Amino acid sequence: MTEATMLAANAANEEYGGTLFRRGKNIIAVASGKGGVGKTFFSVTLSQALAKSGKKVLLFDGDLGLANVDVQLGLMPKRDLNDVIRGRLGLDKVIQRYEDGGFDIIAGRSGQASLSALPSQRLALLRDQLLEVAEKYDVVIVDLGAGVDRTVRMLSASATRTLLITTDEPTSLTDAYAFIKLGSAAGMSKYVSIVVNQASSASEGEKTYKTLLKACENFLRLHPPMAGMVRHDPRVKETIRHQTPLLTRSPNTEAAEDVEKIARAVLKDIADAQKQMTAAGAR
Ligand SMILES: Nc1ncnc2c1ncn2[C@@H]1O[C@H](COP(=O)(O)OP(=O)(O)OP(=O)(O)O)[C@@H](O)[C@H]1O
Ligand SMILES: [Mg+2]
Repeated sequence: MTEATMLAANAANEEYGGTLFRRGKNIIAVASGKGGVGKTFFSVTLSQALAKSGKKVLLFDGDLGLANVDVQLGLMPKRDLNDVIRGRLGLDKVIQRYEDGGFDIIAGRSGQASLSALPSQRLALLRDQLLEVAEKYDVVIVDLGAGVDRTVRMLSASATRTLLITTDEPTSLTDAYAFIKLGSAAGMSKYVSIVVNQASSASEGEKTYKTLLKACENFLRLHPPMAGMVRHDPRVKETIRHQTPLLTRSPNTEAAEDVEKIARAVLKDIADAQKQMTAAGAR
């Protein structure tokens, strides 16, 4: 099956439970059209917020080839996704504990171009292993690469929900719109919610969301919900520079408060999705 027919079949298949792309019950993907909008910062902070609320959390660095998570946290992983993709280790064997954040991590491999150009079958195998590992956690956060390439589509399609990050910059908004448009062709759109990052205030964040929503409604007939917004906060840059997570270094800042609010919404979303899946399975 070619990729295009697989995507089309999956879109058609959505109504019947989407069996071609298996969807996890507790996987949250973090995506963006444009790079550098804050996906990795948000993924790390969301993971920490969820862990702080008592959940067992895994952060998977899905930015294959440009691993971000370990760099942002100053980790030196002994094992990473490269070992899995080469067939040397199972995915469960490359999980490492990140004590400072209170969650587990699967690290990528920076600068390993071959990881970003995996053949579809290898990618599907990785996805299947991820779905299996996810069963041991309450929540799995997947930090994706920017854009909407095959890896992003496959990992996003296996998520319960994709949080699409945008800022108020026109290029970021245009690329978020493109992500939704291309994603809708792959049957992903109904699982996408928007997070506005680096907002100058809550009301500005809302305004940015409305701009994107209007374009989606007018041109795509889609209504992606807003998952929340994270205010611009100078402490974010500072924590990244110190390779320490935000909720450890500056827990009482606006950005921390905003991400914790989104974490609560994410837990509710997962609980709702699980209820729906159980009900659909019982029918
Ligand atoms: N809420 C925020 N307040 C202030 N600065 C922020 C905020 N979110 C992100 N940033 C800044 O944006 C930079 C990029 O963030 P990050 O590396 O998480 O983006 P990314 O989307 O993962 O990038 P890439 O696409 O390259 O993986 C950070 O180094 C930080 O300085
Ligand atoms: Mg990143």
